[in-house]
Amino acid sequence: MTKFPKNFLWGGALAANQVEGAYLEDGKGLTVADVLPDGIWGPIVYPPQGEYLKHNAVDFYHRYKEDIALLAEMGFKCLRTSIAWARIFPNGDEETPNKAGLQFYDDFFNELAKYNIEPLITLSHYEMPMHLVEEYGGWTNRKVIAFFERFAQTVFDRYKDKVKYWLTFNEINILLHAPFIGGGIRPDKVEITNQLLYQAIHHQFVASASAVKICHDMIPNAQIGCMVAGIPLYPLTTDPNDVLEVMKKDRETFFFSDVQARGYYPSYMNRFFKENNITIEMEDGDEEILKNTVDFISFSYYMSGCATANEELNLQSKANILSTVKNPHLPSSEWGWQIDSKGLRYTLNTLYDRYQKPLFIVENGLGAADSINEEGEVIDDYRIDYLNDHLYQVREALEDGVEVLGYTSWGCIDLVSQSTGEIKKRYGFIYVDRHDDLTGTFKRTKKKSFFWYKNVIETNGESL
Ligand code: BG6
Repeated sequence: MTKFPKNFLWGGALAANQVEGAYLEDGKGLTVADVLPDGIWGPIVYPPQGEYLKHNAVDFYHRYKEDIALLAEMGFKCLRTSIAWARIFPNGDEETPNKAGLQFYDDFFNELAKYNIEPLITLSHYEMPMHLVEEYGGWTNRKVIAFFERFAQTVFDRYKDKVKYWLTFNEINILLHAPFIGGGIRPDKVEITNQLLYQAIHHQFVASASAVKICHDMIPNAQIGCMVAGIPLYPLTTDPNDVLEVMKKDRETFFFSDVQARGYYPSYMNRFFKENNITIEMEDGDEEILKNTVDFISFSYYMSGCATANEELNLQSKANILSTVKNPHLPSSEWGWQIDSKGLRYTLNTLYDRYQKPLFIVENGLGAADSINEEGEVIDDYRIDYLNDHLYQVREALEDGVEVLGYTSWGCIDLVSQSTGEIKKRYGFIYVDRHDDLTGTFKRTKKKSFFWYKNVIETNGESL
């Protein structure tokens, strides 16, 4: 069996808004993440009333040194996180950046460098400054492209010697399904139409391609990728209508990776736009900018789903953002997410066949309600099983000839859930004493999976 490459980037992934806390410290402005007490489906409470879990999250802002030391102990080669846009530009539209925000990430990158942990940095992980939402209508407004470019340019310039791997928008396809966190568009204030969504998406495509260009110009040795939420779909039955339904639904995701990896709108969208009366307003130069394609494709993978054209069989399966039809052959997590390790091999092969570009698995993991036993341990065998099965399938994909740069498991330290805003749903190798009722000491405890992952990294995947 093919071995993992020697320079494989083993690690974990976080997002600023789910771990840092310190939501108003050192000049940071409010973001979309700070106004959702119950997670992404709302309500939107702006300005916030009282304290929400994310406001202090797991206090990573003050404890990152301790946390990085623990990640280093596991042997991490890579840590994915985001730079909170509103720490650098609190309102989003300022001319000059916030010095304290820039300093924080400088110190953070220096700490990672001490342990030779490579940062993989997402520019936008559901963290748009609220001022851009309220004053400009989020990504529906073309002006936001220039604000994002300024943000990108600022951080590329500041961290060019420290960060070699970048991502533009986290799960860019999610704007279509969750317009507030994905696009800063308030469903409680504006009527959400396809026209509005696809125009906002176009603005993000231009902003993303422009960031790719700026990155290539400013940091020639850097690699910058796109990021999509990868949920492979299987036809529920052998009915050709179900197969066509899969094709249709798949294109809701491929559209995003196609544009960013190939540099132009795919032809299948012409029919979709025509049949849905959508006209994308493009400016001169947009098509040229889109040609700045990404160096690699990254994606999150938690589950697979089914699609069917039969409404009666259309029993919805639960997921965080995208809901799909339940697969009778698969078990589900406590939160109803269908567990399918082979779907990861399938996704890796599908994306590699389609683009022939390197891939990076930047999120994968099991959300579970862990508990500490009387001996003070967290015995999370279910997580070990989940991760072991998925990593085994990564190895299969390597054997299939797929090029994979690395694997960063989601929420390597317990963090606040995006979909539900709770912390009971834990993903980490490191338990954090923090609870949904806002109590807890923030104390860190190594789970059983901590030692398992350490061994996986030490043996470069031979132990799987
Ligand atoms: C992805 C997001 O959708 O899934 C993360 O990029 C999120 O931000 C992760 O946390 C897991 O989802 P949840 O809802 O369990 O936090």
